[in-house]
Amino acid sequence: MDSYLIPGSAVLGVSLVLGVCATRVWSKPTTPHLPPGPKGHFLFGSSFDINAADPGSSFAQWGREYGELVHVRHFGRDLMIINSERIAQDLLERRSRIYSDRVDYSPIESYGMLFNSAMINYNDAWRFHRKMMNQLMRPVAIPNYHGVMVDAAHTLVSKLKDTPEKHWAHIDGYAARNVMEVIFGRGIEQDQERLVTTFSEAATCFMESTSDVFLAMVKTFPMLKYVPTSFPGGRFNAAEAKERMNAFKSTVYGLLQESNEDNLLLQQENQDEVKNVSATAFIGVPHCVTEDDHYEGYFIPKGTVLVGNAGGMLRDPVRYPNPEKFSPERFLNEDGSLTDDDVPAAFGFGRRVCPGRYLADSSVWMAIVSMLAELDIKPAKDEEGNAIVFEPEWNHSLSSRPKPFPCSIVPRN
Ligand code: HEM
Repeated sequence: MDSYLIPGSAVLGVSLVLGVCATRVWSKPTTPHLPPGPKGHFLFGSSFDINAADPGSSFAQWGREYGELVHVRHFGRDLMIINSERIAQDLLERRSRIYSDRVDYSPIESYGMLFNSAMINYNDAWRFHRKMMNQLMRPVAIPNYHGVMVDAAHTLVSKLKDTPEKHWAHIDGYAARNVMEVIFGRGIEQDQERLVTTFSEAATCFMESTSDVFLAMVKTFPMLKYVPTSFPGGRFNAAEAKERMNAFKSTVYGLLQESNEDNLLLQQENQDEVKNVSATAFIGVPHCVTEDDHYEGYFIPKGTVLVGNAGGMLRDPVRYPNPEKFSPERFLNEDGSLTDDDVPAAFGFGRRVCPGRYLADSSVWMAIVSMLAELDIKPAKDEEGNAIVFEPEWNHSLSSRPKPFPCSIVPRN
């Protein structure tokens, strides 16, 4: 009997092992595949195929070729470009628990700008920043700042009347003044130009140093941080950047103290954290995913950098026909009421969505209505009295800004 049992159990055992193996093999999920995208160079991936002067144009091109979610290798890591609001909502909003981190900015720690809330990883320090910002800039708080905005808009209009040729400086001054009032409870009356200059120098330095190319270079060749500015490669010099950041901080704090040392709105212990927020108005900050994920059959590996291509979404010709044309009526229904499209993509996504969006919306509205009410803004004229025709040009980086253009600003009759 035993002699029958032994081969019998052996057969059973072997069958079980084979069965388990077979189940494993047949039920193994098909190898997860990444979303489509350009193949890129075997060593550098697609890093050098991204148009550094206008990354949005490369993303748009790939979007047309590969679709709503595009994968590229970029400086040794996975980068995915999200070209539709649908996917941005699905991943960055609905799965925001794992899609709210930032890339590792530690290679540029010595540049002195990691105080910026937008660059903090998804951790308790970030939660603290966020809490402070939400308190200050949540929708119900915005009416508290209307008086401030009205004053700032009057100043803007009167400066535009006096020195229209300095319109950029006046507009920057308006934004800086509103932010200073809200964050510190105190406007800067004197020396606004100094404030605006240091603001924009710090912002330029910030945008340059956080670009992918810059980060990759500093990470790969840390010695670049010590190359003097006058040498080739000197733009990576950390001491220079830190100096500019310190100049920015001391100008802001110095002017505040001159304004009125005792009368600041906020408690001293909260100030250091909150002050940092004032330097962070920019767009298009990449998110990072903290766990492996699967989406619509695609694999999204942990650590992937995701860019919500808001520029592309907002220029979608199906949703916004002739998107480059200035056409405010595209937001009106036939009966003249507003559509429910408030272009949310402009302010980012999920838990990292811009906390200053209500403030920004309100203050931009205030500036526009004040300028429309009091000024005629028209094309500039040449010596023969003909309107100067020009092709609009842009500086694209984390945010996009038109290059200076000729225009005439005169008080309305
Ligand atoms: C028209 C004006 C503005 C636009 C278009 C804008 C847009 C953006 C965008 C796209 C982001 C990235 C969101 C993401 O990661 O998904 C962002 C982040 C941020 N914005 Fe704004 N913003 C504006 C004004 C402001 C203002 C006035 C403030 C503050 C006074 C501000 C403070 C911030 C901060 C602190 C972050 C980082 C948030 C975080 O990482 O958690 N922004 N903004």
